[in-house]
Amino acid sequence: MTLTLRVWRQKDPSVKGGIVTYELADISPDMSFLEMLDVLNEQLILGGDDPVAFDHDCREGICGMCGVMINGQAHGPEQTTTCQLHMRSFKDGDTITIEPWRASAFPVIKDLAVDRRAFDRIIQAGGYISAPTGTAPEAHSVPVPKKDADAAFDAATCIGCGACVAACPNASSMLFTAAKVTHLGLMPQGQPERDDRVVNMVAQQDREGFGGCTNIGECSASCPKGISMETISRLNHDLLGALRAGVRPKS
Ligand code: FES
Repeated sequence: MTLTLRVWRQKDPSVKGGIVTYELADISPDMSFLEMLDVLNEQLILGGDDPVAFDHDCREGICGMCGVMINGQAHGPEQTTTCQLHMRSFKDGDTITIEPWRASAFPVIKDLAVDRRAFDRIIQAGGYISAPTGTAPEAHSVPVPKKDADAAFDAATCIGCGACVAACPNASSMLFTAAKVTHLGLMPQGQPERDDRVVNMVAQQDREGFGGCTNIGECSASCPKGISMETISRLNHDLLGALRAGVRPKS
């Protein structure tokens, strides 16, 4: 395949970025999107240019490190991670525009790499349990209804890539926070901090500058793990209950 790439280049956060166009030949449809970017970078390095910075780690769709806007869509045209997107999703001769996640809470570090530590701080605000876990207990010692176990597991598949924020016109992190609140709030081990957790995690996402959720649904539609909007209903339910009970965020 021969492609025209329009790539966002930005040396560092202090300078203005812009789109730079590159021509790429001999791209196999079986390459992943990141392998295609590797080919671009080899071409740039051989030509004495600075390679394009982009995040990645596992390249197996499980770590959540990769993520770029591809032709205006978070992770591109398929509902998967950028590393699991393959070039067979494009046609020979296509022009592909590649940009970093767009959200003020995710400032650009360089080119396509953004700083997603805001997500870490939301987790630090309450995305944990205090119950000692130890080794795996006997499965029947703490019974969990099957539907709760399934819903908790589905929510726990969130890999924190940030596509939900990038896809949302409000740059809201609600789906991410809701997934974490849901997966812990449905389990017996998550009950001691349940009220504090939701209040503090929501307060932290507001502090980070993420926008509010207006139920548009782009977050769920672009989530590589298909996290459901139902998690947001659960978060709102827990948040109202906690606030009515007088729980307030830590300052
Ligand atoms: S590199 Fe790990 S999910 Fe894409």
